[in-house]
Amino acid sequence: MEVKYLTRPTEIAQSIMRGILKKGDVAVDATMGNGQDTLFLAKMVKSEGKIFAFDIQDLAVANTKKLLEKNHIYDDVHIIQDSHENIDRYVSDEIAGVMFNLGYLPKGDHQIITKAETTLVALKKSLKLLKRNGIITMVIYYGHLGGETEKEKIIEYVEKLDPNLFHVLKIDYINQTQEPPIIIGIVKK
Ligand SMILES: C[S@@+](CC[C@H](N)C(=O)[O-])C[C@H]1O[C@@H](n2cnc3c(N)ncnc32)[C@H](O)[C@@H]1O
Repeated sequence: MEVKYLTRPTEIAQSIMRGILKKGDVAVDATMGNGQDTLFLAKMVKSEGKIFAFDIQDLAVANTKKLLEKNHIYDDVHIIQDSHENIDRYVSDEIAGVMFNLGYLPKGDHQIITKAETTLVALKKSLKLLKRNGIITMVIYYGHLGGETEKEKIIEYVEKLDPNLFHVLKIDYINQTQEPPIIIGIVKK
């Protein structure tokens, strides 16, 4: 059997989340894409919980709706076609988990990418909405144009987060070439 645990950064992010989320929680997929994390979060919090999923592009919304329907998930999943920087317009609950998966949509328009400025606004707002012991995961792909700047700005910001308030973890693939993704985990103390 293939060990996806270490080979796929999205699996690592999900396994970090799995340790925190429980039935009835509120969680956010900040970059819905094809909906894999939205589906994962919906399964974790079950029908008692609530999910808010953001993306700016039509294809992401369509693909996520299709994936949820295929998995018979019709419960409290709010699909929002807007930038994650506006998270506070839609979410007022305390959040247990937020997942970011940065870069472009695989098999989608490679020109539509997450950007440092908006990602940072979304991250700062998410940190405020996060409940105690809540967690944020960020999978950072940065091989594309503009990706390096986004990665640097995020790392610069998270490594200065007050250690009295947050634990910040960074996971690197240290033996790979060609811009391997980076995984960040942030827990609110
Ligand atoms: C790497 S993909 C996410 C993949 C997704 N997690 C999945 O399961 O397929 C990044 C997504 O971020 C979206 N995106 C780009 N800028 C955004 C923004 N400002 N707010 C929300 N989503 C954004 C893109 O449209 C793209 O679908």
